[in-house]
Amino acid sequence: MDYEKPLFFQVMQYAERAERDVIDMVSGNPDWEPPETLRDGLREYADRPVSEFQYPPSDGLRDLREEIASRRNVPVERVIVTNGGGEANYLAMAEALDRDAGNEVLLTDPVYPYYPGKTQMLGGEPVYVPVEADGRLDPTVVREHASDGTAAIVVNSPNNPTGAVYGEDTIEELVAIAEENDAILVSDEVYDHFDQSGRFTSALSVDSEHRAITASFSKSMAITGFRVGYTVLPPALAEPARTRHMLVNVTGSRPAQYAVLKALRETGPDYYEGTREMLATRIDAFTDALDSAGAQYTRPDGAFYVLARFEGFPGTMVNVERLIDEAGVAGMPGEAFGESRSEWFRFALVTPRAEEAADRLAGFFA
Ligand SMILES: Cc1ncc(COP(=O)(O)O)c(C=O)c1O
Repeated sequence: MDYEKPLFFQVMQYAERAERDVIDMVSGNPDWEPPETLRDGLREYADRPVSEFQYPPSDGLRDLREEIASRRNVPVERVIVTNGGGEANYLAMAEALDRDAGNEVLLTDPVYPYYPGKTQMLGGEPVYVPVEADGRLDPTVVREHASDGTAAIVVNSPNNPTGAVYGEDTIEELVAIAEENDAILVSDEVYDHFDQSGRFTSALSVDSEHRAITASFSKSMAITGFRVGYTVLPPALAEPARTRHMLVNVTGSRPAQYAVLKALRETGPDYYEGTREMLATRIDAFTDALDSAGAQYTRPDGAFYVLARFEGFPGTMVNVERLIDEAGVAGMPGEAFGESRSEWFRFALVTPRAEEAADRLAGFFA
């Protein structure tokens, strides 16, 4: 395994050591409040009997799995609660590769960097499919890259880092391509609550033995530290994935699942709408100020990242360090997300100071 330490750790460490005020737009850690009911759930948990401080069922608290299954309209046996979306992706990719139906994993370029890392760790081979300039994924191009050797097609919508949201036609086509090539579509939907376009379509809307979805409460409830996510797998993969999950983890965290369950049951749509509205305001403020900075950027349709490019100033690690030291803004180098965006920077809108950050960038590039 020669997978390097993720670049974002390096950038965060560099920003922490800086001798000036730095606006942190590096990580995907929300800075907003979780649902109040989640805090209530945690408080309640402290007074539960000691028997509830012990191992929960390996595949998750039954009530939580049932709640998820009824919301997603799938049989409860197909739901495995995981340690975040990260483990959900690992399980789905591992089982797709274990079918002995190919060794290649189709990924997009730009890509969420943990996918190639996981692919390599699992002995698979990443094959990159370029996306359009605005982040859209053209299924025709995916089809050109798919073959008998394809084990999985891993996509993410709303997308990190492009902000693209794949509509119904794209999702239907992706499932069809997986079926035609005896592969598994792994649809990572961890940003499903952050669709600003109204076009988001879950892969669960297309019934098929060839699609898996992965999801998480990390972002939707602003709790990346809790580690609660889930996967819905095709019937043939659910059992082996359950075994893999148990052998790797034993189980997940009971108090975290308890609090998530309470929040799921008792939080209305207002919470999610409020977060989306707050982020829409940040997107407007940040992109308006990027206009003043003369930057080229893609306005995200979903998730909470903005890719931006500055003339003559490529998104390398050296330039990321310069922006930290000289502008007081920390972002991610585009090269972390694959070759196609190596000229770009990714800024995460996880700070109320997004507009100030863009003003600082405007000042730096003036
Ligand atoms: C596309 C994508 N998938 C998965 C994850 C991991 O989510 P979790 O914190 O639930 O493991 C992230 C986190 O940033 C992400 O951006």
